Amino acid sequence: GKVLSVASECVPLVKTGGLADVVGALPKAVAAEGWDMRVMVPAYPGVETKLKGRKVIWTSGDLFGGPARVLKGTVEGLTVLLLSAPHLYDRSGGIYSDKGRDHPDNPERFAALSWAAAEIAKGGGSDGWTPDILHAHDWQTGLAPAYLRYGGATGPRSVITIHNVAFQGVAPAAKLAALRLPAAEFTRDGLEYWGNLSTLKAGLVTADRITTVSPTYAEELMRPEFGMGLEGVLQARAGDLDGILNGVDETIWSPATDPDIVPYSERSMKGKATNRSRLLTEFGLGPVEGPLAIVVSRLTEQKGIDLIAGGIDAFAAAGGGLVVLGSGDPALEAAVVSAAARRPERVGVRIGYDESLSHQMFAGGDAVLVPSRFEPCGLTQMYGLRYGTLPLVAATGGLNDTVIGATPATLAAGAATGVSFHPVDATGLAGALRHLLRLYADRKTWNAMIRRAMRSDVSWVGPARQYAEIYRSLST
Ligand code: ADP
Ligand code: GLC
Repeated sequence: GKVLSVASECVPLVKTGGLADVVGALPKAVAAEGWDMRVMVPAYPGVETKLKGRKVIWTSGDLFGGPARVLKGTVEGLTVLLLSAPHLYDRSGGIYSDKGRDHPDNPERFAALSWAAAEIAKGGGSDGWTPDILHAHDWQTGLAPAYLRYGGATGPRSVITIHNVAFQGVAPAAKLAALRLPAAEFTRDGLEYWGNLSTLKAGLVTADRITTVSPTYAEELMRPEFGMGLEGVLQARAGDLDGILNGVDETIWSPATDPDIVPYSERSMKGKATNRSRLLTEFGLGPVEGPLAIVVSRLTEQKGIDLIAGGIDAFAAAGGGLVVLGSGDPALEAAVVSAAARRPERVGVRIGYDESLSHQMFAGGDAVLVPSRFEPCGLTQMYGLRYGTLPLVAATGGLNDTVIGATPATLAAGAATGVSFHPVDATGLAGALRHLLRLYADRKTWNAMIRRAMRSDVSWVGPARQYAEIYRSLST
């Protein structure tokens, strides 16, 4: 079968977070199950030239205010459909915002992507490739299933994946016509969302199936604390909602073959110690006799960064170290920078985005901290498992489904792969950090946990089967 996956970001073309990793890895993963998946993304500045063998397969004289084309090409084995629409995507700043402010025409920018995807899905591409399934991701492409459904024609079936329900694509109801949506669908069971319009809700009420990125998050989403206003919509569709974990792209994330690090493996761990001392030097830290913790993250409230900034002094005083790579909320950036200023020998911070440094951190750290208040799946705890950098996580969402927290029972059973805590507050994190220090001091237990972590299955094999099963059930 054939699937068109449409999203706002995709590795290796453009990435701001885990969505891009997943969208980029999915085609390879489902190919193993016999599905031919193409990915459609916008042609942001600099993206088009990364694509080889470009051919125009679709054009429009007026796609939400200007001319547009879809180019088919390939990059690193992926077949990509690139939506080129200079009036929407050719601009400075980030892909969603500029200088901290969302692009004001984001509703139109992503409606256009969704519209073009629906057109291709209905067989509009001139190369004759017509998918059986349209797979949308998050609020940016929530309108793609809606356009298919409201278009009436018997097009392909649709799936939408929720990667993060916190972002909902809310726009004023006055934009309905401009976004080519039927006024008659502006109802409580349709497009209406607390008086506005939500492109994520549009996808959730019109797609044939809904998935999210972990089983625990699928359950959490139906509660007000996590559903963020969409819990009712999701409760109503509980029978069509599945939680499927993300996997790790092992061609990019494997300590034995990673070009950014001194390689090592479960059987030969010597390289890890070298990576650790290089990392200390890189961040200008002194020797750290306790566990060296790393954080590679957006610096936001979701990720519990405020808790880390508050809890790190006691950890450092007890012999631990911390290196942070990330950017985000200016107040949280300032909080981690000031923690480093208080303890320059123990705490290092790099504000910014650096793919190569992130690999060096996973290789050189002893533990990766992920104290998220909510986490649909989370990828960094899985990278930590693969690199023997034990995850310390909040027991929520995908963190809960991928890490087995150390307890007397899980240690006795030889199952623990990290440290897990709940509730997610300062006391919880402080306790977890003390637990980490104790486990690290017990070398035998710690090394056994590392071996188990490195052996845990975080591959795409299982998840790909589950996606394939959903595609199959929709195409018969
Ligand atoms: P989210 O998508 O919510 O930000 P995930 O854990 O799913 O969280 O994915 C985050 C991805 O972005 C991971 O691949 C992580 O390594 C990467 N990442 C986050 N911040 C940085 C950074 N500052 N530099 C390099 N990579 C980063
Ligand atoms: C979102 C979530 C994260 C998840 C990623 C990929 O960014 O915040 O938990 O891993 O999407 O699905």
